[in-house]
Amino acid sequence: MHLHIEPSVLYFGTPVALITTLDDDGGTNITPISSAWALGSTYVLGLGDDSHGLANLRRDPGIVINLPEASLAHRVEAIAATTGAAALSPHKAGAYRTEKDKWGLGGFTPSPAELVGPMRIVECPVQIEARVERIVPCDDDASAVHARVLRIHAREDVVVPGTHHVDLRAWRPLLYTFRHYFAQGEEVAQSFRAEY
Ligand SMILES: Cc1cc2nc3c(=O)[nH]c(=O)nc-3n(C[C@H](O)[C@H](O)[C@H](O)COP(=O)(O)O)c2cc1C
Repeated sequence: MHLHIEPSVLYFGTPVALITTLDDDGGTNITPISSAWALGSTYVLGLGDDSHGLANLRRDPGIVINLPEASLAHRVEAIAATTGAAALSPHKAGAYRTEKDKWGLGGFTPSPAELVGPMRIVECPVQIEARVERIVPCDDDASAVHARVLRIHAREDVVVPGTHHVDLRAWRPLLYTFRHYFAQGEEVAQSFRAEY
């Protein structure tokens, strides 16, 4: 039997991404998100309209989508209750605070990107440089950001040697499920389109 349920959020589980965007003073802000999926060579990112990262992207389309591995969960959570915005939205007042240095707070190390302005996060094994092509307003005070992938950096140990394949035994994405962090479980099957 299936029950009618009304969960407070619809976060059934997606990978965490740390998007980095360029502040107007040339610094780089970090925004943890989980609303991120790929459509061909475009990433679609769901961002709240009060996100400082979104404000940055409206001004400068360069973005890095940094993908943390499961072992970084506590560092992600260390910056979770912060925003790069100088003023808190009513929604964030009381629960969040402004933080200019999310890098120091989370223990993250910046490294220059090659094709866009914001820094890459060294601790993330995968860093995707992209350029925003479209920002579509959505319901619920959020927007869907369409970002075309320009270049992907993958740490050597998560790449199958001599190939462009991510090593599925080495890659351990951090998953966000109903506001809890999980590591990936065991493989249960493979698609008919699996390449190795
Ligand atoms: C694991 C995790 C996932 C999140 N997912 C999203 C998301 O998909 N979209 C979003 O707008 N905010 C998301 N948030 C909340 C933002 O990180 C939060 O609003 C933060 O203040 C944004 O920072 P900024 O204002 O500096 O951009 C998430 C937070 C965490 C910790």
